[in-house]
Amino acid sequence: MDKVNVGLIGLGTVGSGVAKMLLTRREFLARRAGIPLALRRVCVRHPRRNRSVHVDERLVTGNPRNILQDPDIQVVVELVGGIHPAKEIILEAIKNGKSVVTANKALLAHHGEELFRAASRKGVDFYFEASVAAGIPIIKSLREALIGNDIEVLYGILNGTTNFILTEMARGDGRSFQSALKEAQDRGYAERNPSLDLRGIDSAHKLAILVLLAFGKTVRPGQIYAEGIREITANDVRYAHDFGCTIKLLGIAKRDGEELEVRVHPTLLPNSHPLSSVSGVHNAVSVKGDLVGDLVLYGQGAGRLPTTSAVIADLVDVARNLKYGSPQRVPPPLPVKRIRRLRRIGEIEGRYYFRFSCIDRPGVLSRIARILGAHRISIASVLQKDRRREHIVPVVMMTHDAKERDVEEALAEIDRLPAVRRKSVSIRMERG
Ligand code: NDP
Ligand code: HSE
Repeated sequence: MDKVNVGLIGLGTVGSGVAKMLLTRREFLARRAGIPLALRRVCVRHPRRNRSVHVDERLVTGNPRNILQDPDIQVVVELVGGIHPAKEIILEAIKNGKSVVTANKALLAHHGEELFRAASRKGVDFYFEASVAAGIPIIKSLREALIGNDIEVLYGILNGTTNFILTEMARGDGRSFQSALKEAQDRGYAERNPSLDLRGIDSAHKLAILVLLAFGKTVRPGQIYAEGIREITANDVRYAHDFGCTIKLLGIAKRDGEELEVRVHPTLLPNSHPLSSVSGVHNAVSVKGDLVGDLVLYGQGAGRLPTTSAVIADLVDVARNLKYGSPQRVPPPLPVKRIRRLRRIGEIEGRYYFRFSCIDRPGVLSRIARILGAHRISIASVLQKDRRREHIVPVVMMTHDAKERDVEEALAEIDRLPAVRRKSVSIRMERG
């Protein structure tokens, strides 16, 4: 084999970065891979559209079959996104004996096991580094560098868009949620449907992929408790700061024997926690393995260049495997039977931040405290903000360890008090 021919499907934010590197870093990549990587064909939905990268129009097609059925193409890079037709594209590529590189976390979270089994049966490579935390090599770390470890806990800031928005909200210059989201979209961080980012679904997709690699368990996205950042206000960010904490949208997976809890939600982190200072589009993943101990990987979690970095690394791995006749040197991940039960969100226990919106009237705070006490929730500290008699004021508190189910019941009861005027907000805390 004198070169590896690549078929690229998708030429958007990520695809255009990948095409540009394949076209402009030919010799550099050939030296690094030990074999040239040639961009043989590119498929897009709108072949005539003007692009930020110049690709010879003879290479461009609107029909994926022109890539999938080309016997000279050894690797298909899927950068279309979404479930359909990405799934069919990948399955056909595998059926035709081509290795696959993808960044499609939604697809892998929903159908990863089926796709990995298909690749495994066919004996082709399946690489997906860019699907989680873009530029951070967390997939390679879990698949290779940490393979001898029994993983106990994994925490991740796994979404660049929401971390960018939370960071902008913390700046304190009154920047609105909408304007921060618009900037994240303009920079190419957000999903085509940004509610996937905002509702924690994109983080849940990524967490599902990490859980398969770290704990050998296929977890369907619907089994992951996911809560987004829509309810978080700039005031919550400020009040958290007053308690010495930062709010982050965290993906959390913790193993306790044969049980696993897997969840995504806004989380208060003490400012001493290594993930609390991860700002802007940066992501970070913290892993605790029984051999390596605590390990944190940090880098840009979205955007053209960091994602291109991950896709190119995968392409070089595939090219090396093809050159040396060793496809599946690193096999596609498949589940192992170890985790027997997923814990439900109601079973978790920890500290909580509460924000109540109530009328500033004598006795209200003591009624709230009584209800919390009746549900075995003890208060660690209270801040009453912006006192204005007979107005609605926020009362914020931190609790000691409490059970999620008790918290749910207590807040439902508190929200029925006439003096409580808006739905109460609770944010879980992690000490790490
Ligand atoms: P874009 O929406 O920017 O690009 C999608 C590309 O796919 C476009 O070029 C589009 O063609 C093409 N396309 C869409 N449907 C078809 C189809 N049916 N047949 C052929 N081509 C099609 O997406 P991104 O580049 O942002 O994302 C690509 C993937 O990478 C997604 O899975 C995403 O989740 C993932 N990802 C994105 C990151 C980011 O920071 N943006 C980071 C990490 C992962 P046309 O241009 O003609 O419309
Ligand atoms: N929309 C995703 C994010 C892209 O903001 O993290 C990277 O996966």
